[in-house]
Amino acid sequence: MPSSIHIRSYAKINWTLEVLSRREDGYHELRTIYQTVSLYDELRITATDGSIEIVCNDPRVPCDETNLAFKAAAQLLQAAGISKGARIETEKRIPVAAGLGGGSSNAAAALLALVKLWEIEIDERELAGIAAALGSDVPFFLIGGTALGVGRGEEVSSIEQLHCEQLLLVNPGFAVSTREAYEKLSRLTRSEAAFNIPLALLAAKGISGLPLVARNDLEDAVLADHPEIAEVKRRLSSLGAIHAQMSGSGATVFGVFDNTQMTELAEAEMRSLGYWAQRVRTIDRQEYQATILR
Ligand code: C5P
Repeated sequence: MPSSIHIRSYAKINWTLEVLSRREDGYHELRTIYQTVSLYDELRITATDGSIEIVCNDPRVPCDETNLAFKAAAQLLQAAGISKGARIETEKRIPVAAGLGGGSSNAAAALLALVKLWEIEIDERELAGIAAALGSDVPFFLIGGTALGVGRGEEVSSIEQLHCEQLLLVNPGFAVSTREAYEKLSRLTRSEAAFNIPLALLAAKGISGLPLVARNDLEDAVLADHPEIAEVKRRLSSLGAIHAQMSGSGATVFGVFDNTQMTELAEAEMRSLGYWAQRVRTIDRQEYQATILR
């Protein structure tokens, strides 16, 4: 039995995020295309004789039972009906509360690693159920790559993998609460029939088809309070991005470029303006599954 496991916990963006309606359970019915990208946190998980312990290099991350990786471990122990200990050390690089799924990704990574470390026999559906109870984005990180998310985002299926080598993530440095972003959505009149992510077009045209179809329904609601996000979008476009859009509930914006030099220049320019900026590429499902556990 391994006593320690090292796992990568990748960030995501949402190529599209369409909000259809508010549901009776308070969540919103949505359709989104998730995408893992090459920015990642690293988790080292060690089996211990004690309880569950969280250690993190980022002081903004809580290390108590409110931590999503802590909850993941606790839920897994409960589902398996066992009592074990683990120390979960997280080296954070993904900005916190930034629309990049960092906390959800850490939780999914903890689940995948702890199943191995504690040698738990659990089928995929049960694991997906635990992940969904932890958060709407968590099940996506069990599969990674390019995936369609429906329901509240927790029902995921792998689709044609999109590839983009030139993406720039830019974060203006403030956190956005996902719950508040959804609460601010004022226009919710879209019906399910209006859902029209043209998957076939994306599959045929790849990333060049994206500007034709991509949109994020949370953007206007979040932008109303944070005009700086619109400013980041404008700057990315003027620096040559073929598309710039907020990811998830923000505040991170991703720019899609088609040229390495322009991406590098844009990264340097955004950093010189004081923004957190990071060039990334897409991680498809195959690479995701081959590289998360080492
Ligand atoms: O599922 P998760 O815990 O990440 O969601 C955080 C909050 O975002 C929820 O409590 C809810 O207010 C909002 N949300 C929503 N509809 C979704 C996903 C999240 O209203 N599909």
